[in-house]
Amino acid sequence: MSLDAVPLLRMEGISKLFPGVRALDCVDLEVRAGEVVALVGENGAGKSTLMKILAGAHDKDEGRILLQGREVQIESPRRAQQLGISIIYQEFNLTRNQTVAANIFLAREPRLRGLAGWLGFVDRARMASEAARVLERIRAKIPPDTKVGELSVAQQQMVEIAKAISVEAKILIMDEPTAALGESETEVLFETVRALKLQGIAIIFITHRLEEMFRIADRVVVLRDGQRVGALPIAEATPERIVQMMVGRSLQEIFRKESVAIGMPVLEVRGLTRRGAVEDVSFTLHSGEILGFAGLVGAGRTETARLLFGADSRDRGEVILQGKPLSVSSPVEAVKAGLGLVPEDRGLQGLVLKLPVQENIVLATLPRHSAGGWMDRSAVARTAQDFVERLSIKTPHLRQKAMLLSGGNQQKVVLAKWLASKPKVLILDEPTRGIDVGAKAEVHALMSDLARSGIGIIMISSELPEIMAMSDRIVVMHEGRVAAILSRSEATPELVMAYASGQQRGVRNG
Ligand SMILES: Nc1ncnc2c1ncn2[C@@H]1O[C@H](COP(=O)(O)OP(=O)(O)OP(=O)(O)O)[C@@H](O)[C@H]1O
Ligand SMILES: [Mg+2]
Repeated sequence: MSLDAVPLLRMEGISKLFPGVRALDCVDLEVRAGEVVALVGENGAGKSTLMKILAGAHDKDEGRILLQGREVQIESPRRAQQLGISIIYQEFNLTRNQTVAANIFLAREPRLRGLAGWLGFVDRARMASEAARVLERIRAKIPPDTKVGELSVAQQQMVEIAKAISVEAKILIMDEPTAALGESETEVLFETVRALKLQGIAIIFITHRLEEMFRIADRVVVLRDGQRVGALPIAEATPERIVQMMVGRSLQEIFRKESVAIGMPVLEVRGLTRRGAVEDVSFTLHSGEILGFAGLVGAGRTETARLLFGADSRDRGEVILQGKPLSVSSPVEAVKAGLGLVPEDRGLQGLVLKLPVQENIVLATLPRHSAGGWMDRSAVARTAQDFVERLSIKTPHLRQKAMLLSGGNQQKVVLAKWLASKPKVLILDEPTRGIDVGAKAEVHALMSDLARSGIGIIMISSELPEIMAMSDRIVVMHEGRVAAILSRSEATPELVMAYASGQQRGVRNG
């Protein structure tokens, strides 16, 4: 047998049982050097679990792992690293109060020379300059001495990527690396992936965005309910075929918007400003309307949402909710006034990880689920069960702790919480990030239902197809300002991108 015939990695018959959940059932996976394998499947299919086993973060119950034909035991993350396996986790794994450089070199910091180094003293200057070099490789403009807690979600993801490629890895696992990235950062990541591939590194890439898979992968492996249902070379794959394999039925990945009558203004925003972030933002949101917010990462969309929600304070500007001036100084007040926000960073802001699924779902609607000061258990269970079914949230039961759900299912729980709260204005920041194709359609259908009931919806999304399909009007932001407001009929992807990237200037109001 020639060396080429032996795959770099072979996982054979991998099984994993969690209490009440068979996460993996005899799964095989093969990856060759220089190959990019896309690992896809619905939320909860077992993708992250399989990769955590490979990275030494979970023990397997059954199966074998072979590297270049030789069986290995990967009993810890440290062992995985020694074997040349590097992983970018779906949940960020950074220490927020440490610097970027310290995070990149965590547990393998360069030491000072001589006695000081021998005593364990870190060479901070060298660490900073090496961190800068790695960041430069992925063109991330982040000072290495910044504290990670001060970075945006996209920047944190870039640090994760830098950390993963800074070790001499033979196998690089990326678990939804693009979920937090915008178009241009995704481009840079893809260039990095192509360069690593040329160096013979094997890459396992998890994504819910089918178009990414077609751009970057050589082969696709599909999991469903913990089983491997098939694998295809990319040349033989079509979106229809992949989706059919993933969900077990045919389903077109189309975003469908139902037409809803647009009513009176519910939210008027005039000259909203927070220095250095948002400058003079004005728009009107009507009842029944879905207003899409497009723009590159850092264009000020999330910041605008935070200002409206009272998470940050504004320097200037006016917000009018149903004809009355709104001045909220905290999210709690915002909720009382009738606003809802599904934040982009759901792990940190949206979910109480230690609470059960059902409590998380009713968290924003406790009064409605209480009687005489006590929580009405059966009402809670009814609401929770309804959303678990509508959004197909995969959980063994309603009392499962949120932290034990897969990444995408955690996102669905946060969505359910706000969809259940029926606010006057609902702000959704990247509502379908990390959500599988089947559930995306459900989320969109729920958005249409809410719009029909008269709620005004602000939808921030970095997925242009979603913006184009779901918005009645599109607010395009660029560098903290509104670059254009386009009507559904005049908006084209090219025009939106031209305004978002600053190529086209001059405010337009549609
Ligand atoms: N630590 C755990 N304890 C209990 N159940 C778990 C644990 N981790 C994962 N699971 C369950 O195992 C199944 C597979 O989860 P996994 O995270 O591998 O899915 P995934 O394919 O990565 O999904 P997603 O696309 O949502 O990230 C899910 O049903 C999940 O709830
Ligand atoms: Mg996952």
